[in-house]
Amino acid sequence: MKDPHSDAIGARRHFLGPLGNATAFAAWAYTPFQRLAARDLYSLLATRAFTANGLYLNLGYWKTAQTIDEACAALAALVAEAAGMGPDDAVVDVGFGFGDQDLLWMERFAPRHITGLNVTPVQVRLARQRVRRRGMADRITLIEGSATAMPLPDTCCDIVTAVECAFHFQTREKFLAEAFRLLRPGGRLVLADVIRAAPEPDGWRRRVQDFTWSQFAQKFAVPAARGGSGNSYSPITGFPA
Ligand SMILES: C[S@@+](CC[C@H](N)C(=O)[O-])C[C@H]1O[C@@H](n2cnc3c(N)ncnc32)[C@H](O)[C@@H]1O
Repeated sequence: MKDPHSDAIGARRHFLGPLGNATAFAAWAYTPFQRLAARDLYSLLATRAFTANGLYLNLGYWKTAQTIDEACAALAALVAEAAGMGPDDAVVDVGFGFGDQDLLWMERFAPRHITGLNVTPVQVRLARQRVRRRGMADRITLIEGSATAMPLPDTCCDIVTAVECAFHFQTREKFLAEAFRLLRPGGRLVLADVIRAAPEPDGWRRRVQDFTWSQFAQKFAVPAARGGSGNSYSPITGFPA
């Protein structure tokens, strides 16, 4: 039987190898203060995913998962369940990575349609191939574009999802306004996001925490305004502190 993930593994091999890419990757990984925009970061990382089989790029939901592959799929499933995703729904999924979550949702939750939006061209290209190979091209449309300026009409969908990508957005507020514009009355918005932990009260621990977050923010394209202390939903109108 054909391994359903062999397309991902083949694609990974295709992207590894060129010396230039390896050098750029080393410069990003080992140069202390190099900052890349999200699109450049994910172009550079290409198909270097943590997972053994698919190409998920999230950190997973570990309630019952034993492996990163299971945890990544569990996070995607959790988002779909929280959204109450089902056959009547048109979904707009921003920051879809290589499309793993969209393939999983179509198989398990069968929404009417998924439109994916992603800023990284190499991911869009590869995800489209994967969707075509799984025979889902009529139900999943993947386009290049930003979550903060979506090339989609008003009230076009029932659900907007963002799986571990909103921490990149410049800004979350713009994305939320766009999601509100796209959603039909009664629509649902579900995010799985990365935010800072609550500040440690102890000075030394707090400094370690600040340093760790600033390193993460620099390496993983968190906009500068949110590299400092203000990285939570509480300043956004309507979200409780
Ligand atoms: C950590 S990866 C998560 C990918 C996928 N959701 C997953 O769970 O595997 C972040 C994704 O967000 C995308 N992204 C970053 N900024 C974006 C933006 N402004 N608009 C749309 N996608 C964006 C990246 O290209 C990447 O696919």
